[in-house]
Amino acid sequence: MNSVVLCASPRRDGNSRMLAEAFAEGARAAGDTVDLVDLNEVLSGLLRDCRTCRGPDGNCSTVDGYRELMHARLLPADAWVYATPLYYYGMAASLKNFFDRLVCYASASYPRFEEVAEQMRGKRSALLLSAEESNQAAGLAVVNQIQEVSRYLHHEFVGGVTGIGNTRGEVRFDPAEPLAAAVSLGGTIFRAHHSDYNMDSERSNAVWSEARSGDEGSGIYEDV
Ligand SMILES: Cc1cc2nc3c(=O)[nH]c(=O)nc-3n(C[C@H](O)[C@H](O)[C@H](O)COP(=O)(O)O)c2cc1C
Repeated sequence: MNSVVLCASPRRDGNSRMLAEAFAEGARAAGDTVDLVDLNEVLSGLLRDCRTCRGPDGNCSTVDGYRELMHARLLPADAWVYATPLYYYGMAASLKNFFDRLVCYASASYPRFEEVAEQMRGKRSALLLSAEESNQAAGLAVVNQIQEVSRYLHHEFVGGVTGIGNTRGEVRFDPAEPLAAAVSLGGTIFRAHHSDYNMDSERSNAVWSEARSGDEGSGIYEDV
């Protein structure tokens, strides 16, 4: 299995990159492969007006690495992982730009849309966030956007790690040990439990098999 990690910080030796490399270490130890992408190297253009920007063949005319990133690296991957610093309580601009420009590929006006949509669904996703502030709410907008984009793309958002630090590489001193958590996430991203129920979802009352009594229940919440 292969994960692509989209690294959004302009600091190549920064905290979110360190989380990304820890994720890669865990994934490789588990026998998976990882492709680390520096978004600031690959993307140079912002989203423009598609009516003037799309060429006569329907392709985006912005000349940078987005199309190659999408078709050669992202669509064949099994997971998309987002590594970003927290900037003014949101994600770094290169990652937002990546999402904005997704519209050039994941909308019906793109000639290869059917092929893209088919390959895009069914992946897993995860978030690696670095921030100076440790208050829990500071990064919620980023978590929420990744959750909603993942739902939109039919991806399973299986987890996130937040590392607290400001100077380059400072997350390694965070006592919550986000680097260890990122290694663990890398090793488990394709095996981690994931659920997202509706009220009528068929399910056991117990989440974990060790806790099941043999009475599988009605699939609706019961006191235990
Ligand atoms: C433009 C900018 C905006 C920032 N805004 C926030 C913020 O809103 N909240 C926060 O906790 N940290 C903020 N920070 C600090 C970074 O999130 C923090 O230094 C992070 O570890 C940087 O990650 P990096 O090393 O991967 O670039 C900001 C830093 C910059 C440069």
